[in-house]
Order: sequence, then C-alpha cells, then structure tokens
Amino acid sequence: MYWTKYFIPTLKENPAGAEAVSHQLSLRAGLVNMLTAGVYSYLPLGLRVLNRIESVIRQEMNEAGAHEVFLPCLHPIEIWEKTGRVESMKDVMIRFEDQRGRRLCLGPTHEEIITHLAQQYIHSYRQLPVNLYQIQTKFRDELRPRFGIVRAAEFIMKDAYSFDRDEKGLKKSYDLMYQAYQRIFKRCGLDIVIVEADSGAMGGSISHEFMVESPIGEDAIAACPACGYRGALPTDFSEGGSACPKCNGPLVKKSALEIGHVFQLGTKYSNSLNAVFLDEDGKQKPMIMGCYGIGVSRLIAAVIECLHDEKGIVWPVEIAPFQVEVLALQVTDVAVMDLAEKLYNGLRNCGLDALLDDRDESAGRKFNDAELIGIPYAIVVGKRGAAEGIVELKDRRTNSTEKFPVNEAVDICLKKLGRGV
Ligand SMILES: Nc1ncnc2c1ncn2[C@@H]1O[C@H](COP(=O)(O)OP(=O)(O)O)[C@@H](O)[C@H]1O
Ligand SMILES: [Mg+2]
Ligand SMILES: [Zn+2]
Repeated sequence: MYWTKYFIPTLKENPAGAEAVSHQLSLRAGLVNMLTAGVYSYLPLGLRVLNRIESVIRQEMNEAGAHEVFLPCLHPIEIWEKTGRVESMKDVMIRFEDQRGRRLCLGPTHEEIITHLAQQYIHSYRQLPVNLYQIQTKFRDELRPRFGIVRAAEFIMKDAYSFDRDEKGLKKSYDLMYQAYQRIFKRCGLDIVIVEADSGAMGGSISHEFMVESPIGEDAIAACPACGYRGALPTDFSEGGSACPKCNGPLVKKSALEIGHVFQLGTKYSNSLNAVFLDEDGKQKPMIMGCYGIGVSRLIAAVIECLHDEKGIVWPVEIAPFQVEVLALQVTDVAVMDLAEKLYNGLRNCGLDALLDDRDESAGRKFNDAELIGIPYAIVVGKRGAAEGIVELKDRRTNSTEKFPVNEAVDICLKKLGRGV
C-alpha cells in the first residue's frame, strides 16, 4: 500500500478528552473515529488490526472444534422474557418497537438466541457436543462509555456457546476454550492473568476472567514485585499484609482490564428455553451449556495499553496492520524512490503486507508517524543509502537499527518475521 493512496489520518497532538493511552493512540494513529459517545468507526488501519485479530481468533476457535455462525442483532423480546433476563439485563438492553409493534432489542449477548437455535436442531445425544461461535456486534447501553473502544455501547465480541450431554462434557468443552484463549492472547502479544470470577447475571457456577494489567482496568489483581507472580486478589487482601503464594514476599494490588470471560452455565438457558435432548438411557435431559466471550474491539485497546512506548504503538507481528514499512526519505529523488519501490515490491512478492511511505514530507514527520502507527519493521531508504546500496532496518520494539546491503533487506525482513528463508 502506498501511503499517499491510502487513508491514514494521523494526528500530531493528543485529542482533548482522551485520558487512556490506548484511547489517545488509537485516535492519533488513525485507527478509529468517534461518532458519538461509545460509538466508533474503524478506519482502514484499525480495521486491518481488527481483521488480523479476528483471523487469529477464528484459527484458534476452529482448531478447538468450534464452528462459526452469524446470529442476528435484532432479537424478539419474548425470548428474553423466557429466561428472565429482560429484567436482569434491562439496564444495558436497548429496546424498541418496530412499525408492526413487534417488541425487539439489540442483542447485548446471545445466550438466548443460540439456545433457541440449538433447541430446534439438537435432539439426540449423538449430536453432542456442539460448540458454535460468532464474531459480531453487541449493543449495551453503558451508563459510562469509557476510554474509547474499551467500554463502548456498540462493540465487537467473539462469543462461543458449547452444548454437552453432561458435566464431564462441559468440563472438556470449557478446557478447550480456556486453552484456546491462552493461545489467542499469547499470539496477540499479551501476558494475561486468569482469575476465577463471579458468574454474576450469567448464572452458572465456574467462571474465569482473562485480564491484562493496565491502569485503566476496572478490576483488581494481586502482583508480587519480587518474583513476578500475578493472580487473583485474595479476598482478605491488605497492602503489605498479604503474602505471595510463590515467594512469600508482600503482594501489591494492581488494576486489570478484562478482555475475555468464560462461564460454565449449566442448564439455566436450556431449561428456560426447553433445549433438551434424548440421552442414551432414553431419558430427556437439558443440554449442559458453557459460554465464552472475548471483547474483540476491546482487545485492540488492551494490546495498545500493554504494548506502546512514548512514541506510539508497538504492534506484535501477528496483528500488526502491516508487517513492514518502507520509508522513502526523499521522494523527489528518483534513485531513492526507485529503490524504495523495488524493496516494497520485493516484500509484497514474498507475501508480506508492506506499507510504502511515499509522502513528500520531512524525514522527521515520517519517522514520527512510523513510530506512532507501530509497524514492527521499517526499511529506511535515503540518498546516501541509495548511492551506496545500503538500507537501514529499524526494529520498532527494540528501537535498534541495523544496516544491510539492499539485496539482503527483504530476506532479513522475512527472517525477522519468522518466515525464514
Ligand atoms: N461495553 C463494552 N465495550 C467493549 N467491550 C466489552 C464491553 N462489555 C464487555 N466487553 C467485552 O466482552 C467480553 C465479554 O463480556 P461480558 O463478560 O459479558 O462483559 P462484562 O464483564 O462487562 O459484563 C468482556 O470480557 C469484554 O472484553
Ligand atoms: Mg465479564
Ligand atoms: Zn512472589
């Protein structure tokens, strides 16, 4: 992609009112734009990251045996009445009537809808287990939308729902999702903390939250500065008085941001919506359910919270909007531009996503923007380099620069990106 033909509206200054680093950087790097409080558009760079994250999630969900579906946002209220959640979730539910007087809501989550679906198709133990997931927009009338896409009224969630014969099956489905979540977050470059949680309005028993340490988080975890342990905050926590389970040192309290949540639901939804099956013993039983959510759009913010420096975002390779950026320093110099284009095409021919900054801007502006948008590697092409056949390779994460002969640059990038040649 040529920068001049693309749409990357970077901002030099921090927009007023954006407190969280992730909020500031996602606006400054031209990832998202606010339409109204809690409602965001994704611009090309932001959408690229979103698509990359979704692709990681799809791979891991499919690998874990879940199948993708796409459920509606518009839900008839009657289904929500059957489970009683029209009441328990009324504070976040966006409700209205259509012209025919049908009572509808915009789905804040999809347990009801998926259970209604399963009830129509699954009738025998032979069809179980089933795990269905989707990546889709959720609507929640959040009283306080905060920190940009971290807490929005309209956001993207990956939600999966498992249906099993018995508790043993549920445990197995739950473990598969639990492990898939660990792989997903690792591939997104995150160092997560998993804590057992309260299952709240969802119903059910066991539940775990996947969190990252972040000052904007609304949850709390315990951390041990001495050995690096992190985990659930003890119920009787006291600063200085609680000991690390690993090294016995004093624990401190840290804020954490929830990015994923898994629940063993049991039969709450299958009972209310009559999702039953005939078991091997000839008895009719409710399906045993689990549900598994990842805040896909929040994940973008969580990654920025955890992976940035004073200059901008530091994307991990797997979810970076581009893998390599070629910086042509003097675009009016034919030799520089020729070499930059040659390298750009070389990268693309190897299947890499490359961005060529071909703007007629100062080198300073280009370096600043490159650091702001956080592409993992940059090849810098200048006059001297073009004359001597040497280019510079900058590593966004370590901030280090190495010089290479022009004809090695593409191979070196491939190697650094783990695509060895
Ligand atoms: N308002 C929101 N904006 C963005 N992401 C959200 C929002 N609410 C929830 N999420 C994401 O969806 C995931 C699953 O949602 P859930 O556990 O039902 O949310 P909550 O814990 O806020 O009730 C959360 O872990 C979080 O990452
Ligand atoms: Mg939650
Ligand atoms: Zn410790």
